[in-house]
Amino acid sequence: MKALILAGGSGTRLYPVTVVVNKHFLPIYNKPMIYYPLSLVMLLGIREVLFVVNPEDEENFRKLFGGGEKLGMRISYTVQDSPRGLADGLVLAEEFAEGDNLCMMLGDNIFFGHELVNIMKEARRDIEENGGAYVFGYYVNEPRRFGIVEFDEEGRVVSLEEKPQKPKSNYAVTGMYFYDSHAIEIAKNIKPSWRGELEITSVNQEYLRRGNLKVKLLGRGFAWFDTGTHHSFLEASSFIETIENKTGLMIGCIEEIAYKNGWIDKDTLLVAAKSLDKTDYGTYLKKVAEEEIF
Ligand code: TTP
Repeated sequence: MKALILAGGSGTRLYPVTVVVNKHFLPIYNKPMIYYPLSLVMLLGIREVLFVVNPEDEENFRKLFGGGEKLGMRISYTVQDSPRGLADGLVLAEEFAEGDNLCMMLGDNIFFGHELVNIMKEARRDIEENGGAYVFGYYVNEPRRFGIVEFDEEGRVVSLEEKPQKPKSNYAVTGMYFYDSHAIEIAKNIKPSWRGELEITSVNQEYLRRGNLKVKLLGRGFAWFDTGTHHSFLEASSFIETIENKTGLMIGCIEEIAYKNGWIDKDTLLVAAKSLDKTDYGTYLKKVAEEEIF
């Protein structure tokens, strides 16, 4: 399985902050927003990642991650010349995917919770063995703002609707998806919605029509933030600060994960620590290298 992370878009809900800066570079507490979805695909053991980026941001993404060498990964970029919608990311990933299954993450989504990675690993295994697609539902207060999934008592998906007027459940579809190799063909054949975007909900609806859409629920023990609004941006930052300071462990620390995955050696980690030595982040990396943090 390979991973696709969407980091383009227009970021209008964060205006005026994002008039000149791409939101994915903004700090959620102590690291760029984009580290969080990247760290999750790394925890899943995925080493090949494609970022979908806006033309004006490609250079900065390359400055941040290069080709992934410092993380022992293969990172590449594809430019989306205008924000045509989330499903357009799948279309742009065709060459990269080479017929493989994909984990797709939205660059502004943050997830946290016990067993999260195991839940993701189960979904990955199921897709690799049986095909289909997975979405992850999260209970929300304002279902009209989200893609909403309805399911029956056995957990089978019954309906999916994008920002419904009369929501059939309170479960929002979060920004993490697993797809078999049919997703790209499906994305290429859907039509733009009334707002002119290729909706990911249309791709998921096609999987549903084929009887191949599965859902896993992220229950009360999970935190999910779509950090694309001023309020949730601040909320996510406070949340990360609180958890990190209570536990002394970092969330979304990509160098730590690369090291623990065995993708980089101690020297490479220490070089990263040195480049950040004026920060708690650098001190933390040093501790990881000295095995003071498990
Ligand atoms: P959204 O938050 O739905 O859209 P946006 O980022 O354009 O923001 P706004 O609604 O405030 O104008 O996008 C979800 C994620 O997907 C986000 O990380 C940006 C990314 N994205 C793309 O990469 N390409 C796209 O065409 C779109 C619409 C979003």
